[in-house]
Amino acid sequence: MVSRVIPVEVFDLVIFGATGDLARRKILPSLYRRFFAGQIPPQSRIVGAARSEIGLDDFRALVAGAITEFVSKDKRDPEVIAAFLTTLEYVAIDARGDTGWDALKSHMRKEATRAFYFSVAPELFGDLAERLHSWRIAHHHARIVVEKPFGRDLETARALNATLASHFTESQIYRIDHYLGKETVQNLMAVRFANLLFEPLWNAQFVDHVQITVAETVGVEGRGAYYDKAGAMRDMVQNHMMQLLCLIAMEPPYHFDPDAVRDEKLKVIKALQPVFQEDIVRGQYRAAAGAPGYPEDAGDPDSRTESYIALKVHLANWRWKGTPFYLRTGKKLRARASEIAITFKEPPHSIFDDAPGWRENVLVIRLQPNEGMNLKVMIKEPGPGGMRLVQVPLDMSFAEALGEEGADIPDAYERLIMDVIRGNQTLFMRGDEVEAAWAWTDPIIAGGEEQGERPRPYDPGSSGPEDALMLMHRDGRRWREIQQ
Ligand code: BG6
Repeated sequence: MVSRVIPVEVFDLVIFGATGDLARRKILPSLYRRFFAGQIPPQSRIVGAARSEIGLDDFRALVAGAITEFVSKDKRDPEVIAAFLTTLEYVAIDARGDTGWDALKSHMRKEATRAFYFSVAPELFGDLAERLHSWRIAHHHARIVVEKPFGRDLETARALNATLASHFTESQIYRIDHYLGKETVQNLMAVRFANLLFEPLWNAQFVDHVQITVAETVGVEGRGAYYDKAGAMRDMVQNHMMQLLCLIAMEPPYHFDPDAVRDEKLKVIKALQPVFQEDIVRGQYRAAAGAPGYPEDAGDPDSRTESYIALKVHLANWRWKGTPFYLRTGKKLRARASEIAITFKEPPHSIFDDAPGWRENVLVIRLQPNEGMNLKVMIKEPGPGGMRLVQVPLDMSFAEALGEEGADIPDAYERLIMDVIRGNQTLFMRGDEVEAAWAWTDPIIAGGEEQGERPRPYDPGSSGPEDALMLMHRDGRRWREIQQ
């Protein structure tokens, strides 16, 4: 299979916070990979802007280091790296003062697409937006890219939206949720809307329940200060898991077009029902085998922030009324595994009387790792002695099915940054979508705080707290094993 790379137009991309962790780990290596793939015209310019008083050579050295560290060896070609480094510029800038803005302006070219990546603390968004305007650096075609966290509740998200809206129109604002850039997440739309097979069964009449799992093996790893103010609900559910839920539950958009897709996702979020506290289980990993527990990692021995959360969610609409969606995510679990499992109802009547082995069909979409799909179907167990049934997998690994191309799955940021340059907002969150997500999330967080209960402890390397099992057992259902 031949990979189709369509070069984007020449651009000037300014990365505010260019010496920070996200830029080093994700943004710059992703840009390099797209350059290596031939998608970025060499006349494009990537301008690092940050507080550090370093020179261009230092910045190039930093980027070269990031490439060595985060780009796989097969893509590290010295000539290509050298050419990539020549696209870089650096400006030491003060987001709240006047230093550096003149220099930044001098790097902007009239004919190039202009984009500004705000890879900085949200408190600086307003200052940056304001200065980009007062220095006349951002014209009305310019795009800005903003990272999560987009607010910490509805009120702060609204304030951020208002700040950005005072300088940019909605069509210029690209709010990143990197889950939407993952190939397998986009694939959810392809599977649903490019196949007739699933759609007729994709509703409460045929689906018993849906499980969405995002399990991680890492802890909070030096991000304790941020994480302790967020917790799994803000860090993962309000954004990434909400997006997965939207893509699974939404109606077919009339076209694969930014507003058509986002309108449908918004309807899902608005149909989300308030969640009862008894349908929520919060957990915290404990210390084990010399490794610190969550409170130590967070730097607060008394922390009540959850590093795990499981919840049962309902949608009040025609398609899904009565089908629960069970969501769970957590740190330091037994495996890194993200998947969506759709469990169908049993056939209305069995012609096989009490044939042993009867199970429901399950469609599992593995998002990472081992990206692929698995449909569990019933067949007859071979051999004499009557009709015995056995459940077998129709298993597909995307890597195997797609050959070489399937094995080379691009990082989410590669796709998203190129979409910014192309001016395609389909995989970015609209302001009203983010606000609706917070409007649903806020009472869940407030309810937990009001209750004041400590999160349930769980062992690192386990599947989470015992109580999470009960959340499903109570309904006569079971979580799938967390495994790679
Ligand atoms: C981030 C969260 O947005 O997503 C992290 O802040 C989390 O806590 C990460 O680890 C998970 O992303 P991925 O791509 O590794 O699944």
